[in-house]
Amino acid sequence: MQRTYLMVKPDGVQRGLIGEIVARFERKGFQLVGAKLMQVTREQAEFHYEEHKEKAFFGELVDFITSGPVFGMVWQGDDVIALSRLMMGKTNVMDSQPGTIRGDFAAHTPKNLIHGSDSPESAEREIGNFFKPEELLGYDKAINRWI
Ligand code: PPS
Repeated sequence: MQRTYLMVKPDGVQRGLIGEIVARFERKGFQLVGAKLMQVTREQAEFHYEEHKEKAFFGELVDFITSGPVFGMVWQGDDVIALSRLMMGKTNVMDSQPGTIRGDFAAHTPKNLIHGSDSPESAEREIGNFFKPEELLGYDKAINRWI
């Protein structure tokens, strides 16, 4: 069973898309084990995007993710990292297919609504950056036997 960190970015929160996005992952059958609305600090943002610190857009990334509340989530399920990224759609909105979150709702690349971990290592690091262990609740989900 895998876990991933997903985050509705400030544009998604302001556009009222938290519910729409959460519903998609629930309907897919993944299990929500932690979630909170939060104001990301510059320190957390710089750590989160550390692998992009040499890129020209690093400052823009940090400014954007700290510009307003985000909705951070931890989801659990088989292959949740790869499958959630498929559901998010491609980073570049010109490449994101209809039916994906970005393909259906995003029209601007940096303001592309959602972030998702890209590997188990990133997921562990990102979850630890935004959640305390006691904020993550595992529970039995009877419906799991049907999916
Ligand atoms: S890369 O270059 O392929 O490693 O970048 P990528 O993994 O696709 O994107 C990393 C994050 O940077 C955001 N991004 C941008 N922000 C600002 N300006 C530009 N031009 C830009 N291009 C990509 C992109 O949305 C990713 O953010 P997250 O939060 O991880 O989705």
